[in-house]
Amino acid sequence: MISLAAAALLATGMRLVASHEYPDGAPPGFSGGFKEDSCTACHFSFDLNQSPGRVVIDGVPARFTPGEKYTLTVTLTRADMKRAGFQLTARFKDSGAQAGTLAPGSAEQSRVGVELSSGIQYANQKKAGASVSATDVRWTIEWTAPSGSAPVVFHASANAADGDGTTNGDYVYTASVESEPGACCVEHRQSPPGFLRQVFNMQQR
Ligand code: HEC
Repeated sequence: MISLAAAALLATGMRLVASHEYPDGAPPGFSGGFKEDSCTACHFSFDLNQSPGRVVIDGVPARFTPGEKYTLTVTLTRADMKRAGFQLTARFKDSGAQAGTLAPGSAEQSRVGVELSSGIQYANQKKAGASVSATDVRWTIEWTAPSGSAPVVFHASANAADGDGTTNGDYVYTASVESEPGACCVEHRQSPPGFLRQVFNMQQR
């Protein structure tokens, strides 16, 4: 009976265990935002954001609607990486408090986990999500937007690793994207789509 309950909990895709095998999710607190270090705290062979390579957060709405679900994509690109990982947070820009909720994207339960630490959710790769078969690796995360009228900032820190099972020889990249509270856009759904797209793109880059 107990094992059935435990299996059910594990099947939710949430990380409940605090111990770490690092390729299977970094420890919480290394998002690169709000005075947190990035993965370079331990993976420091190279300078942060060394070219050629990058991490990009896609799918963040320029303006969010409370309660709405958005699919975010973290894409890490580096030609020679052999193993990969990331950490992503969603926090209110002013207070640093958790903004909305994060969950693995659909069909991503085996690749992405979410861990809660000191009231902040940290989305990370799981072991299956650390494997690399191309020059880029993508993870999807579902974000449910918070209520309230404060801007939100997303931070991602990602590791393009050499696969040797150590912290050596790994390239770390960071990115951040902001989203404004969006009462405006619910009312203005009729605006010319081209204009909205332009605003969206400006806020994305
Ligand atoms: C507190 C130290 C620490 C931090 C911070 C840390 N790591 Fe690691 N990481 C390790 C250690 C130690 C290893 C190797 C040993 C192991 O796997 O347990 C490792 C290994 C890895 C590997 C496999 C590396 C390889 O070449 O095989 C990946 C991928 C990884 N970490 C991702 C991350 C990501 C992503 C972050 C930032 C969000 C991060 N780590 C932050 C300590 C850390």
